Amino acid sequence: MLSTEQVRFYHENGYLLLENYLSDEEIATLQKAGAKIIDDFDMEEVRIFTTENQSEHIDRYFLESGDKVRCFFEEDAFDEKGDLKVEKPLAINKIGHAMHDLMQDFETISYKKELYEIATALGLEEPGIVQSQYIFKQPRIGGKVHPHTDSTFIKTSPTSCLGAWIALEDAHVDNGCLLALPGSNNDYSLQDVFVRNAANTGTEFEPTEHERAEWDIEKLIPLEVKKGTLVLIHGEMVHGSSPNRSTCSRHAYVLHLVDLNCEWSTRNWLQRPVNAPFRPLKSVVDLLI
Ligand code: FE2
Repeated sequence: MLSTEQVRFYHENGYLLLENYLSDEEIATLQKAGAKIIDDFDMEEVRIFTTENQSEHIDRYFLESGDKVRCFFEEDAFDEKGDLKVEKPLAINKIGHAMHDLMQDFETISYKKELYEIATALGLEEPGIVQSQYIFKQPRIGGKVHPHTDSTFIKTSPTSCLGAWIALEDAHVDNGCLLALPGSNNDYSLQDVFVRNAANTGTEFEPTEHERAEWDIEKLIPLEVKKGTLVLIHGEMVHGSSPNRSTCSRHAYVLHLVDLNCEWSTRNWLQRPVNAPFRPLKSVVDLLI
């Protein structure tokens, strides 16, 4: 599916845009499924956050979400009593992290033969999807995502993280499209890893053995894309996004893949129980075809 030139561009720049990866029908299916999750979501599940030990509850809610479908709300969406200040659909930040394995509509659209072909062309021997996120980037309040590398959050040895960021709505500078630092996957070594703390009660950033270098974030460029476009992101390419100042939302469906032949770090925040392991993409694609 990818040309030699596209593979070369990806390795040189750390990203690649593929237009029309999802059809309008597939996008509508994901949007409907995402809206239903929010509609069905019982707010009691997060109201507990506003009681004492708030940060402990938030940490556990996040740390246990690797094999679940959970809703994460905008930080300032709640009042002091723990009630939402705005309607649920406008307060949601994202849904994560296992819709691809637990919900049929998400599974069908996540485990596509094309994605397997793309991931193997980009060097993953045994690609597997390790997390899915539906990101809402709400009008006016959708926040900035600070420049980062995905391999910081999803670590294998050797590193193998591949982001598959799919625009469900047109993404442009005004509504907070992706910002990329082309070539940074080759310019810098991985500087930090985001891991579970020793007590396994929360997370922390830990420096790697590599020498630290300042990212040249002045050179971030906007990746403006039409809905349906797949943006492939190298795990060591520096990227982020600006806030959404517009009146339009900027929905995206984001998958992260790794090479399952590489060693999964037991310190990654995301861990699967023994009875729900990551599934090789190819095995699921074959089942679904
Ligand atoms: Fe990212």
